[in-house]
Amino acid sequence: MAMNDPSVQAFSPGLAGVPAAKSKISFVDGQTGLLEYRGIRIEELAAHSSFMETTYLLLYDRLPTKAEMDRFSSDVVHHRRIKYRITDLIKCLPEHGHPMDALQAAVAALGMFYPARNVLDPEVQYWSTVRLIAKVPTIIAAYYRLQRGDEQIQPRDDLDHASNFLYMLTETVPNPMIAKALDTCLTLHAEHTMNASTFSGMVTASTLADPYTVVSSAIGTLKGPLHGGAAQEVVEMLEAIGSRENVRPYLEQKLAAKEKVMGFGHRIYKVKDPRAIILQQLARQLFARLSRHGPSPLYALAEEVERVGEELLQAKGIHANVDFYSGVLYQTMGLDTDFFPTVFAMARVSGWLAHWLEQIQDNRLFRPDQIYEGAHGRAYVPLNQRT
Ligand code: CMC
Repeated sequence: MAMNDPSVQAFSPGLAGVPAAKSKISFVDGQTGLLEYRGIRIEELAAHSSFMETTYLLLYDRLPTKAEMDRFSSDVVHHRRIKYRITDLIKCLPEHGHPMDALQAAVAALGMFYPARNVLDPEVQYWSTVRLIAKVPTIIAAYYRLQRGDEQIQPRDDLDHASNFLYMLTETVPNPMIAKALDTCLTLHAEHTMNASTFSGMVTASTLADPYTVVSSAIGTLKGPLHGGAAQEVVEMLEAIGSRENVRPYLEQKLAAKEKVMGFGHRIYKVKDPRAIILQQLARQLFARLSRHGPSPLYALAEEVERVGEELLQAKGIHANVDFYSGVLYQTMGLDTDFFPTVFAMARVSGWLAHWLEQIQDNRLFRPDQIYEGAHGRAYVPLNQRT
């Protein structure tokens, strides 16, 4: 391959720095740690908004009026229930399966119940968006319960999005402080420019596939440990480290073996992820209010890992990312580690759908190129002549 071949010059592994779309949904400045949804800083949204209001903002490019918010919330609340056949499908899945696989399968199946082939129809767009935002938490909670041999708990219309989700897991109305913390986690995870799962969803959207297929393909991409699976890996890493004295030897050994420290590093951020800063504050506030004994041992260990990790990695521009503290928070809320990525999915469904709506307004099929490095002109050798 000639070095002046333009395709070689344009090649960027992992498409780093290659714009895949024009978008008005969110903006990141990785040098200063700025994240905005529709032009509003994430710190403002975390402090003053709710996940449902932020979802509206992401989807429709403005904060809703009171009447618009009431209608949208009420539509979501009234579509929380899932068909008994979806419950039956979830019951048939292996009890030791990964919850993200169950979620992906059930979301793909939803599309068979609510055909949405005409993706340019505003009614199809509105109701499939409402259904997906409403039903994803119910599917996650159903798998959580059914996996344990417990009955599924039906959603409660009088509870907000986060409270209802925690209620469907435990059959107990959660402490409002915990529900509010979860709602803030959802807001922080709702959208993040052209990340891997959003790109995956957009590739699917560009074929004009229905939104259920778009979201299920994004869920599959989110599952991996380099993306939404990292929060689970962080808590498993903290459990493996076990004590403060082990932090430095553990991290040094990992880096010497050229392994990644989970919850650190980001393609875009070269400073600490602004969402990690907010999540850390949230965890501190939650422990201060809920526990007379201060932060949990796991949280204290996380802070020590961050301190030593910073020392070892900051020269390379590697700092804590959004997944570093989210797992510790989810554990405080009583969630099992393998369910952490499903909470990420429950939040990111808003961002995926915002990108879906944006993409199909001005669609062009994603069909990138490749640099072929294989052979040419080889002869076909019949089977009985091959050695
Ligand atoms: N620990 C140690 N070294 C790291 C880490 C890390 N977490 N992240 C990057 N590096 C090093 C990497 O080894 C490489 O070093 P060298 O140049 O010496 O070979 C350099 O930094 C560049 O790494 P990269 O993997 O090419 O960078 P990337 O932009 O492709 O990676 C990342 C981004 C998120 C995949 C990576 O930082 C990583 O694997 N982090 C751990 C997993 C994680 O926490 N993922 C959650 C990401 S944030 C939320 C989300 O998107 O879901």
